[in-house]
Amino acid sequence: MSLLASFTVIGGPSSEQLARKIASKLRSRYVGCELKIFPDGESKITLKAKITGKIIVVHSVYPPIDSNLVRALALISQARKYSSQVYAVIPYLGYARQDREFLPREVVTMSLVAKLIKAAGATRIVVVDIHSMMALKHFEIPARNVTAIGELVRYFKNLHLKNPLVVSPDMGGVERARNFANLLGTSYIALEKHRDRKSGEVEIKSSKHQEVRNRDLILVDDMISTGGSIVKAAEHLKRQRCGKIYATCTHALLIGDAEKRIRKAGVTKIVGTNTIPSKLGMVDVSSAIVRAIV
Ligand code: R5P
Repeated sequence: MSLLASFTVIGGPSSEQLARKIASKLRSRYVGCELKIFPDGESKITLKAKITGKIIVVHSVYPPIDSNLVRALALISQARKYSSQVYAVIPYLGYARQDREFLPREVVTMSLVAKLIKAAGATRIVVVDIHSMMALKHFEIPARNVTAIGELVRYFKNLHLKNPLVVSPDMGGVERARNFANLLGTSYIALEKHRDRKSGEVEIKSSKHQEVRNRDLILVDDMISTGGSIVKAAEHLKRQRCGKIYATCTHALLIGDAEKRIRKAGVTKIVGTNTIPSKLGMVDVSSAIVRAIV
């Protein structure tokens, strides 16, 4: 029996397809779950088979965030009953944006989430393009952040865009844009974004960027949630007579009518990954996750 096959991969209700891919690449056993939601909103999870060996629980924590968090914790806790080695693979980790006190007296909920994941029984955690490395510092167990940039760039290489410019909608994403541009073999810029910490309203403060004129642009972010950042960035760039605008991110949450508003702002195509299953999560991150595990 190969070393890889000693894993059992549990596909939580939020990440079944991704977990199947991870199990197949690890040549390991896949165990699915059955989820029942009671009328009061409680989740009841039943594993479809027995679990043994080193266990990998794959469960993204996207909306409904709190329900998916409890489901992930429940699976980790169950896995720990049968194994001393439990890998929590949480490709999208909700609460990661609450990694520090931005305004006085704000509760840093990421710190609690990290404690809960450890207390439930995880011995390691793997996340994908976490919002900030600061969020990862809250963990007291070995924690790995996997990047999906290589996979996203591969997708864009196949689109054969002519001399595209990579754009980060904010200064916080400048390193991501640089990496993306380097792998794609092109240049990048970063816009200056301001978000009102109370209202959540986004404003682009940048002045004109001569280099965007007539060029196809790839807006790169870690996540698209309400779409506010991408919409404001696209409107700003359109005013400067750029070519087509593509938007890409690892976690395409696209809350409410975000997709519609992004398209209305002039974005031709939105490309996300399967950390969040949807028709826009077309880029597969299972290989990147497997590389972080073996
Ligand atoms: C912010 O710093 C993040 O990198 C994203 O730009 C942001 O979280 C996206 O949120 P929304 O789509 O709601 O603007």
